[in-house]
Amino acid sequence: MLSMRDLPDPKVGPGEVRIRVRRAGVNPVDWKAMAGGIDDLMDAVFPVVPGWDVAGTVESVGLDTPEFAVGDEVVAFARKDVLSGGTFAELVTMSVRGVARKPAALSWDEAGGLPLTGLTALRTVEQLNVSSSDTFLIHGGAGGVGVMAVQIAKARGAQVIATASPANHEFLAELGATPVDYADGVVQRVRALAPGGVSVVADFVGGVGEITAAVLADGGRHASIVEPVDVPAGGRRIWVRPSSEGLAELGRLADAGQLRVPIADVLPLSDLPAALARSRAGHVRGKLVIAVTE
Ligand SMILES: NC(=O)c1ccc[n+]([C@@H]2O[C@H](COP(=O)([O-])OP(=O)(O)OC[C@H]3O[C@@H](n4cnc5c(N)ncnc54)[C@H](OP(=O)(O)O)[C@@H]3O)[C@@H](O)[C@H]2O)c1
Repeated sequence: MLSMRDLPDPKVGPGEVRIRVRRAGVNPVDWKAMAGGIDDLMDAVFPVVPGWDVAGTVESVGLDTPEFAVGDEVVAFARKDVLSGGTFAELVTMSVRGVARKPAALSWDEAGGLPLTGLTALRTVEQLNVSSSDTFLIHGGAGGVGVMAVQIAKARGAQVIATASPANHEFLAELGATPVDYADGVVQRVRALAPGGVSVVADFVGGVGEITAAVLADGGRHASIVEPVDVPAGGRRIWVRPSSEGLAELGRLADAGQLRVPIADVLPLSDLPAALARSRAGHVRGKLVIAVTE
């Protein structure tokens, strides 16, 4: 159960920075973790502060941590090795392996929504080796990971087809994807756009293995970030990891005007329970962000 309370300032260890949190992105993993959904993957140290996304200012640096200085504006994917001190708090610590400078082109709101979904999309696109010779189908183009993957794949020159409900089609077209409704008949609609099949598929939704199998060209590559891959050939499961290099790459794309972070809403920390419920309902477009401090 969520409650607001005072905790001691987290200690900043060697190779870590302590960040004053300005914005923290909301992700499905936050409510999944609270429901025990990642118990098999990580130990939890209570009381658990949820939240893995952060944009903020370095408040102190650990012993022998020359990479950053007090006052630096940063973004971080602050997933630790255990589930514990997260980003829905005024202060969070993180190893420099998950921290990078805040992209100048992004506002604080946008920066707070960047790390987790940006790194997941980048890892997926990189692992699937998406290039300008690909037709890339994204299941779930309008969500946090989807909006990033559409733009990263477009920056690599791929032709992108992305599924969403009709209300999000104009939005996806503005990001550069060809939108397709995921309702009954999705296989025929994708086949009409790619008669020979698509060369790459990314699943950001789950439960779409049969569709993937029906639209993937022979020899195609595919991955899921949601569940084990059940389509026989060429598939893999993706699990995002902290990466300062990946965050720097996302920053380069943002500063080059090739990546933006569409914001669904920015809410105060006191509205976190409502934000998590909204995420859980499954139809947030882009990112929900919590404003923790100004
Ligand atoms: N393995 C990893 O490392 C990793 C990392 C990040 C996220 N994840 C997981 O990946 C999933 C997606 O994360 P997210 O942050 O992108 O979630 P999200 O932002 O909450 O996704 C919401 C989006 O999903 C779309 N959607 C819902 N049902 C759909 C369907 N049947 N077909 C196509 N689109 C559909 C909605 O579009 P409409 O409103 O148009 O329906 C909405 O825009 C979550 O389960 C999350 O836990 C895994």
